[in-house]
Amino acid sequence: MDTIKSMVISLALATAVEAGAIQQRASTTQPDWFKTSPDLYAGTMETGAAPYLAQINPAPFGSKSYIPNAPLETGEPISGAHGKNIFHLMGDLSPYFSPEEGFGVDEYPLPKGANITQMHLLQRHGSRYPSASEDQGTWGEKIANATKAGTVFTGELAFLNDWSYQLGEELLVPTGRQELFDSGVLNYYNYGHLYNNKTASHKLVVRTTLMARMMQSAENFLAGFFGLNWKDYANLLATIDPATTGVSNCTNELTTIEEVIEEPIAIWMSTYLKERTAQLKKLSGSYNWTLSDTYHAQTLCPYETISLGYSNFCSLFTYEDWEHYEYLQDIEFAGYSGFLSPTGRAQGIAWVEEFLARVEGHYVKVPASETGANMTLDTNPITFPLDQNLYLEFTHDANIISVITAFGLTQFSGFLPATGPPANQKFHTSRLVPFAGRLNIEIIKAPHKVSTKRSSKLTKADYISGTGETQYVHFIQNQRTVPLHASFDACEYREDGWCELSTFLKTQKTMLAKADYQHSCYGNWTYGGWGTVLNGVPAS
Ligand SMILES: *[C@@H]1O[C@H](CO)[C@@H](O)[C@H](O)[C@H]1NC(C)=O
Ligand SMILES: *[C@@H]1O[C@H](CO)[C@@H](O)[C@H](O)[C@H]1NC(C)=O
Ligand SMILES: *[C@@H]1O[C@H](CO)[C@@H](O)[C@H](O)[C@H]1NC(C)=O
Ligand SMILES: *[C@@H]1O[C@H](CO)[C@@H](O)[C@H](O)[C@H]1NC(C)=O
Ligand SMILES: *[C@@H]1O[C@H](CO)[C@@H](O)[C@H](O)[C@H]1NC(C)=O
Ligand SMILES: *[C@@H]1O[C@H](CO)[C@@H](O)[C@H](O)[C@H]1NC(C)=O
Ligand SMILES: *[C@@H]1O[C@H](CO)[C@@H](O)[C@H](O)[C@H]1NC(C)=O
Repeated sequence: MDTIKSMVISLALATAVEAGAIQQRASTTQPDWFKTSPDLYAGTMETGAAPYLAQINPAPFGSKSYIPNAPLETGEPISGAHGKNIFHLMGDLSPYFSPEEGFGVDEYPLPKGANITQMHLLQRHGSRYPSASEDQGTWGEKIANATKAGTVFTGELAFLNDWSYQLGEELLVPTGRQELFDSGVLNYYNYGHLYNNKTASHKLVVRTTLMARMMQSAENFLAGFFGLNWKDYANLLATIDPATTGVSNCTNELTTIEEVIEEPIAIWMSTYLKERTAQLKKLSGSYNWTLSDTYHAQTLCPYETISLGYSNFCSLFTYEDWEHYEYLQDIEFAGYSGFLSPTGRAQGIAWVEEFLARVEGHYVKVPASETGANMTLDTNPITFPLDQNLYLEFTHDANIISVITAFGLTQFSGFLPATGPPANQKFHTSRLVPFAGRLNIEIIKAPHKVSTKRSSKLTKADYISGTGETQYVHFIQNQRTVPLHASFDACEYREDGWCELSTFLKTQKTMLAKADYQHSCYGNWTYGGWGTVLNGVPAS
C-alpha cells in the first residue's frame, strides 16, 4: 500500500477510534487503569542522609573566578582535565547534559509554514541513589570495619579515616527531581502548544512504571510541564516495572545479560585501573586494597556528588581515568541492550512498534509473541489513545538504548574491544543516557519539500518550489539531532538530519523481522563470546 493512501486510511481509523474511545470512557466496567496509590510495586527504596553541602564543601578550589555550586559542587580540580568536565564521562551516572559535540549535524529552525504535529518522548528517570545490586553499601561497611579495626589510610585516602557511607537506595535524589522538573519545563516551552486544551476530550495519558523513582520522575516532569495542578491535565498509566517494553518476558535476555558483559568488563577494568590500584594500595595501611575497591571508590564520585553535593572520591582519579571509566560503561550498555547484545533489538522492539502504530494512527497489530508488548494495554483506547499530539513515556537507561537499537540506528553500532577504545568510537553511554536522558521524536508537516541544504533563517527560502506537502521525522537525543541518513541509506543526506516520514516508515517495516523476537528471546542459541554479536541479535 502506498503511504499517502495508508495515511488517509489511518486518519479515518483514528476518527472511528476516537468515537469508540469516548464510549469506552463512559463505561464503568473498566479497571481503574490510572490508580497509582497506594503503590505496592515501588521496588527497592531507601532514603539516605540529608545533605549538608554548606558544611562539607571544600570550595573554593583556587581558580581565579568564583564558581558557586549550582546545586552540586563539581568544580574540584582534576588532574589532566584542563577545564573539561569529568561529569560528562560517567556513563549512565552522568548528571543530565546535552552533548556539545552532537551526533554529526547541527540544528536548524523550522521553515516558515511548517508545523510540528506530534512529539513522542522517551524520558529516563533522573539522578538516583545506587541500585541495590551495586553493593556500594557493603563496600562502605567494609571500609568502616577496616578503620574501626585500626587501619589508617594516608595521603589522598586519609579522608576515609572518618568517612562513612550515607547513601540510600534507588530513590531519586534532589537533583534528579530537578532534572525531571527542568525537562518538563523545557519540553513545555518546546511543545506545550501540542497539548490542545480546547479540543482535548480527555486527559493526556502518560506512561510510567510503579517503581518509586519512575513515579517521582513522571510527577516532577509533569509538575514542570503543567504546574503543580498537573493532575487536571494528565493521567499516569503506571505499570509494574518494566512492563511497558516487554523486557520482563525476554527469557534469554535475563539469562545471558551477565554472560555477555562479564568478560569484557573484567578485562577492561583490570587494564585501566591497574596503576591506580597499585598507587591507592600504598595509601591503605593494613587494608588489602584491590581492583574492586578502586572501582567502588570511582563509582562513589558520581553517587556521593548527586546525593550529598560533593565527593572526595572524584579527585582520586585523573581525567584519563574518567575517560576510561566512561568506556567501561560503554561496553556495559552496548553489551547489555545495544548492538553488541544478542537481545538488544528484541528488548526495544515493543516501543518501536507502539511508536509506529501511533504515527500511523492504529493500534499495535503485531502479535505480542513478536514484540513482548502488553496487548491488553495496546489495544484499548483508554490506555493506548491515538488522538494525542504528545506521547510521553518514562523509562530506564537500558530501555532507551534498546529502542535506539531496535530502530536500527546503526550509527551507534561498532565493536568495542575489551582492550580499549577503538578509533572512531560511535557509542558513548553518557551522551545517550545520562540521568534524565531523553529521546524526542518530532513529526513535522511542511507545505512543500524542504531542501536538503538548510539556511539558518526562519524563512520560506528552504522550500523546493513546485513540490507538495511533505512530512518529516526528526530524532533528537538529549537536545541534539540524530541524523537519520547516518543509519538509513534510504534517508537522503540532509543537513538537518531529518528523514521524509514515508521513507522512514518504509525503513521501519523491516525492523520487526530484524529484531527476531522469538528466536532472540526464546531460541536455543549459544553465545559465542564478545565480538560475535554486532547487530543486536544472536549471531546464529
Ligand atoms: C563489618 O563488621 C561486622 C561486625 O564484625 C560484620 O558483621 C560485617 O559482616 C562486616 N561487614 C563487612 C562488609 O565486612
Ligand atoms: C484547561 O484544562 C483545565 C483542566 O481541565 C481547565 O481547568 C482549564 O479551564 C482549561 N483551559 C482552557 C483554556 O480550556
Ligand atoms: C498488562 O498490563 C496490565 C496493567 O499493568 C497487567 O495487569 C497485565 O497483567 C499485563 N498483561 C500482560 C500480558 O503482561
Ligand atoms: C589481597 O587481595 C588479593 C585480591 O583479592 C588476594 O589475591 C590476596 O591474597 C590478598 N592479600 C591478603 C594479604 O589478604
Ligand atoms: C511471555 O512469553 C510466554 C512464552 O512465549 C508467553 O506464553 C506469555 O504470554 C508471555 N507473556 C507476556 C506478558 O508477554
Ligand atoms: C501549520 O499550521 C498553521 C496554523 O494552524 C496552518 O495554517 C498551516 O496550514 C499549517 N501547515 C501545514 C503544512 O499543515
Ligand atoms: C539446545 O541446544 C543444545 C545444544 O545443541 C541441545 O543439547 C539441547 O537439547 C537444545 N535444547 C532444546 C530445548 O532444543
